[in-house]
Amino acid sequence: MELQLWSLLLPLSTLSSSSSSSLSGSSLLIAATCICFAGILCCCLLHLRHLFCKHKLPPGSLGLPLLGETLQFALLRAPIGTPLPFFSSRMQRYGTVFKTHLLGRPTVVSMDPELTKFLLSNDGKLVQGYYPKVFSRILGPALTLQGASHRALRELANLSVSSSAVQKLHVETVQEHFLTCLESWRHQAAVLDAQHDFKEWVFSYSIKLSLGLAADDPTAELLMRDFFTLSSGYSSVPINLPGTQFNKVLKARQRILATITKLARLRKHKGSKEATDILDVVLKRCDESGERYCGLDVAEWIFFFVVGAFENTFLLIVNVLRFLSENAHVVNQLKRENVALRRTKTHKEKLTWDDYLQKMHFTRSVVRETLRLTNIAPYLMKESTEDILFKGMVIPRGWMVILNFSMVHLSPCYYPNPLEFDPWRWMTSESDKGSNNPDFLIPFGGGLRRCPGSPLATFEVSIFIHYLVTLYKWERVFGKDVQRDDVTCLSFPLMRNGLPLKLQPLD
Ligand code: HEM
Repeated sequence: MELQLWSLLLPLSTLSSSSSSSLSGSSLLIAATCICFAGILCCCLLHLRHLFCKHKLPPGSLGLPLLGETLQFALLRAPIGTPLPFFSSRMQRYGTVFKTHLLGRPTVVSMDPELTKFLLSNDGKLVQGYYPKVFSRILGPALTLQGASHRALRELANLSVSSSAVQKLHVETVQEHFLTCLESWRHQAAVLDAQHDFKEWVFSYSIKLSLGLAADDPTAELLMRDFFTLSSGYSSVPINLPGTQFNKVLKARQRILATITKLARLRKHKGSKEATDILDVVLKRCDESGERYCGLDVAEWIFFFVVGAFENTFLLIVNVLRFLSENAHVVNQLKRENVALRRTKTHKEKLTWDDYLQKMHFTRSVVRETLRLTNIAPYLMKESTEDILFKGMVIPRGWMVILNFSMVHLSPCYYPNPLEFDPWRWMTSESDKGSNNPDFLIPFGGGLRRCPGSPLATFEVSIFIHYLVTLYKWERVFGKDVQRDDVTCLSFPLMRNGLPLKLQPLD
């Protein structure tokens, strides 16, 4: 659930297309001049309102009329795992809170953990979620729920994640699933593309957990094709005309909803006593029509869970392996921990939740460190619903607020040598943490909207690491044009040329 370049540019593209279609020549010039004046007037009003107020706006610049600083924001990219120049240059100039003007809206950016946490804990009171239209078109109405409907989403999510039946299923099936997947590598070519395989593996697991479908079920394969079309859509140009990428994405979304609705009807007829997947949990909470929960179709709920579960967990696994491939000393330490744990088990005995919590400290530290450096959700967008005061500054009501986690995660103030992959930084005891306090790690958001799937995701990835390091040794293969840090510069932290590996089974 992350923001992409084109989704950010949506309001601008809509504006330019609507203003240019019906105007020509001199009338176009007059219209442009009027728009400029209107923009300048708005900027002046924005400042005037706060000129006589004892609390000042945060430092920063609102940029050009209307355009603000949107182009600098959208175009200045950086390799994943390094701070975006748009934010780092302003942090140097203005500090950790600054104002700007993005996507046609006056904006305050917070790179301050204290302010960020305060706002997250006041989600629904002082701020609410803000999502570019393209995002809510793809992800559907579940994304923008507020108030009672959002509370229903949380209740459902907590039930789905923590219901004992689903957790039991998760602990067992995730291990069976990854063992089968990793076994399939034994029969693969000498060099395989792990990034490609992980996408399929994590997707088929999400579908199993949500809808109970096995990986080789033809419906699962159809859903996979459509969900993959969807993932390519977040960065598509948001023009819904026949043949455009965005149009294909919206059609894929419709097909997915139709398929889930069909599966839900079949399941209802069958009936089941105990919930064995998320569909069962949702169906048990449905209204009398049996098709809707809190005003939303069952299919919309399940769709939203699968997107949340699949995309983010896939990105996390890919990046764990990327860091491990570059840090042999970390792999050695992981082996020590996981081989020792395996020795306490019989041949095919599964790990338990307690093993994960008590005997996999280093493995969990590797997951944490990857979350810190990868920044799968680098920032969240909110909108202020009240004037908010913070250290003598005011964030006016109705402004966009960007809570930037990645600048906190990559800051030397909180993490010594912040760009270094160092899982040991998480191994200190509670009393020694000091500035290394995990309180600064916010990969799953916080407050009312904190990711409900975080325990599932971190467990899933730790289990994957356990079986990977106890079953295989591997080497990343670099082609002659492939750089060591060949990560895409777009918002998704993915390798441009995949993640080719040369594998050797350990037994
Ligand atoms: C590495 C894995 C994951 C990351 C980094 C991640 C990140 C996030 C973040 C940052 C949010 C907050 C969005 C906001 O405030 O608007 C969120 C929300 C959400 N996530 Fe995750 N997530 C992950 C895995 C999962 C999994 C496995 C599931 C499902 C089982 C899931 C389901 C959701 C849902 C339903 C929400 C919406 C919560 C709400 O609106 O109250 N996520 N996630």
